[in-house]
Parts: sequence; C-alpha cells; structure tokens
Amino acid sequence: MTTTLASPLALPCGATIPNRLCKAALTEGLADPLNRATERHERLYRAWSQGGAGLVITGNVQIDRRYLERPGNVVIDGAATGDDDGLEALRRYAAAGTVGGNHLWMQLNHPGRQTPTHVCPEPVAPSAVPLLNHSAAQFAPPRALREDEIEDVIRRWARAAGVAREAGFTGIQVHAAHGYLLSQFLSPVANRRTDGWGGGLAERARLLREVVRACRRAVGAGFPIGVKLNSSDFQQGGFSADDCLQVVRWLGEDGVDLLELSGGSYESPTMMGAKLRGPDAERPAAESTRRREAYFLEYAAAMRGAAAMPVMVTGGFRTRAAMDEALSAGELDMVGLGRPMCVDTDLPRRLLSGECAQAVAYERDIDPPKAGLAWFCLQLIRIGDGLEPDRGLDGATAMARYAENEARTARGLVGR
Ligand SMILES: Cc1cc2nc3c(=O)[nH]c(=O)nc-3n(C[C@H](O)[C@H](O)[C@H](O)COP(=O)(O)O)c2cc1C
Repeated sequence: MTTTLASPLALPCGATIPNRLCKAALTEGLADPLNRATERHERLYRAWSQGGAGLVITGNVQIDRRYLERPGNVVIDGAATGDDDGLEALRRYAAAGTVGGNHLWMQLNHPGRQTPTHVCPEPVAPSAVPLLNHSAAQFAPPRALREDEIEDVIRRWARAAGVAREAGFTGIQVHAAHGYLLSQFLSPVANRRTDGWGGGLAERARLLREVVRACRRAVGAGFPIGVKLNSSDFQQGGFSADDCLQVVRWLGEDGVDLLELSGGSYESPTMMGAKLRGPDAERPAAESTRRREAYFLEYAAAMRGAAAMPVMVTGGFRTRAAMDEALSAGELDMVGLGRPMCVDTDLPRRLLSGECAQAVAYERDIDPPKAGLAWFCLQLIRIGDGLEPDRGLDGATAMARYAENEARTARGLVGR
C-alpha cells in the first residue's frame, strides 16, 4: 500500500499518529509571570488541534526557570510556582490541544548559552565558549557546567517529562537541535570538555542519551519520546552529518520513537533557510523540486537508512507535491511544518482534503528578512489573544512590537 499524507504512522512504543503532518515546535511566549500555561495557550492549541495535523508539538518548554529561551516560556521545574508546576493549567492546555484527536507532544529544552542577557545574565554551557556573531548585550558569555549540575539537568528533564505525561500531553520531544544545550554538548566547537561529557562523539552524545534514557524511565514504555536533532550544524568543526548518522543509530538503541531532522543554530540559522555553510553544505545542486524546497531532505534519506525509528523532516516544505514525493520516495515518514502554521492553523486539514496544494510562504515577503522571527511570533500571540493573524504586518513594525513585548514580559517575571 502506498504511503500518503493521510496514512497513520505506528511508532515503536505502540502509539499511532493519525496522519503524516506535524505542526513543528514554535515558541509561543504566552506564559504568565510565573511561567505557567495560560488561556492563550488553550486558544492557540485548540486552533492547531482542530487544524488537522496528526501531531502537534509545543513550543520549547524549559526545564529550569533560571535559563529561559525567552521570557514568556512555559517552565516545568517544580520551583515555587504556587500550584504544583501549574499542573491544572497544563491539564487545560493539554485538553484544548487534543480536541481534534491528534497527538500533542511537549518539547522540553534547556537553552544553554542561547538565553538572552535580559532574562539570564549568567548562562551555562558545556564550556565557557561564547556565541559567535552576537554581542554580550544579546547573549552573555557562559560558564561551564559542573558535573553535579549536568546530573541535575538529567533529573530535571526526566521530571518534566513525567509532569507532561501526568498533565495529559501524549508524548514528549527532547530538543537536541538548533544550538541549545544538548546541541552544544554534541558540538566539538561549543563542547571543549575533557571529562566524560566531552571529547569523542560518544562523550559529546552522552548527555543527550542519558536524558533520553532518564525520560524513558520517567514516562514508561508505551509513551512516545521524540528527539529533534540537527542533520548538521553547518559550521566549520561543528556537529557534522557523519556525527548525526552515528547519533541516530544510538538513539535507536535508546528507544526513541520519532526523530525530527533540522539543522543550524543561532550562529548559523539554516533551520529557517539561511544559506547552508560549512563542509556539509558542499554538495551538488539539488536535482529535484522536493530537495530544492525542503532544506534537509538530502540528509534524511541516509539518516532514515540508519534509523530504527520513523523520521520527520522540518524546514522549507510548502507544496503538497514535494511532501507526497518525499513520502513516496521513502525519504521520510512525516512532514514537519513551522512558519505556515503561525498564520494558517488549518493548513494540514486543507492539504489532506486536497483543497490546498501549496502553503503560503509568508517569509518571502517579509521585509527586512531579519524581521521574520518577530513577524511569526507576533502572529502566534495574536491567535492566543483571540485575534485574526495580521498578514499585512510590516517587518519594521513587527520588530519594534516584538522587542517591546519581550521587554515587557521580562519585566513582569516573578518567582525566579
Ligand atoms: C516563530 C518560530 C518559533 C520557533 N520555535 C521553535 C521551538 O520552540 N522549538 C524548535 O525546535 N523549533 C522552533 N522553531 C523552528 C521550527 O520548528 C522549524 O524547524 C522552522 O521554522 C523550519 O520549518 P518551516 O520552514 O516549515 O518554517 C521556530 C520557528 C519559528 C518561525
């Protein structure tokens, strides 16, 4: 039987995802001043749940409130939030996000050195290596984590996974991509440790693997665990496509249910389509439409060969033809969609019904292009507030409003 976007996907743990479309993780910034979920999450995730994707993954939720990706993150760290991790709010969030019968997985993250200075003046990382191409006013230089702190990261991750399950989320995704803490550990550029947590690939991958295994112990055998991983960092000396291949094999041994392939970091933002750089970028021009459209597809076929679990690819997919081709060519098992879902929450339903053959590539018209992240983030906030997306928002206004929103949210934070 041919696999189509409408085909269900059985996972190694026994769970089944109803179709092959996934709303990828998109940071919402909608938490309250104690970093708990709010009604704004419920509104946004109800819209996505009704939008037809078989799998909806949350924006990154932090496992430690000292280290935020941005001020409005949801945090699950058991610290004094007043009501037990905001469990009741998480339950309402999970209920709203599953009304459509989809899976709803919580993405768990620690940003490491990629935490803005205005929310974290003293970041931690595998080693004291600051981010390239960014000022200390944007991202303060990190200090190296002590070993006991690394053990604490593992405990926190597992605990948060257990809370996600208790609240009604149907799976978790460990964020090991895009230059955040686990991705920093994987990178020989960011990880200069000489103890058992750095050095060779086995040591650099140890934290990710221990996090996955600890999460498995916390959630039990039948609960889906996904990992988002870079196919490459696209950086000289960074985590390479060859490294990725080996890590994918190990993650199969560790019982991961779904591997999401992406790429890049704040230093080399290829996840949003910035030109690929570094040694892994030196390849012949992509020969097929689908490979020109989807940024990481040419890595996926090799990774899928090495992977014991299904593979999802996120980044650039906009046409149903490219999605269908990639599925039928066996290059992937699921298609991840990011930016289009910030505006057109029902896109998966329309792709599945055949009503729509192509997502709108809003990013192409945002001027200046660097306003893209702010533009998409503001659309999520509008939907969370019960407003329609503002498709005509101009780039300069988006940047100013986003900066103002982040500063105001940071000023309001309490309990940290
Ligand atoms: C507004 C916005 C927020 C994002 N937040 C996250 C996040 O929290 N976690 C994550 O893994 N990726 C995040 N991403 C990356 C997306 O999941 C996805 O990998 C990227 O947008 C490429 O897919 P696309 O071309 O379909 O947009 C974000 C992207 C955007 C535009």
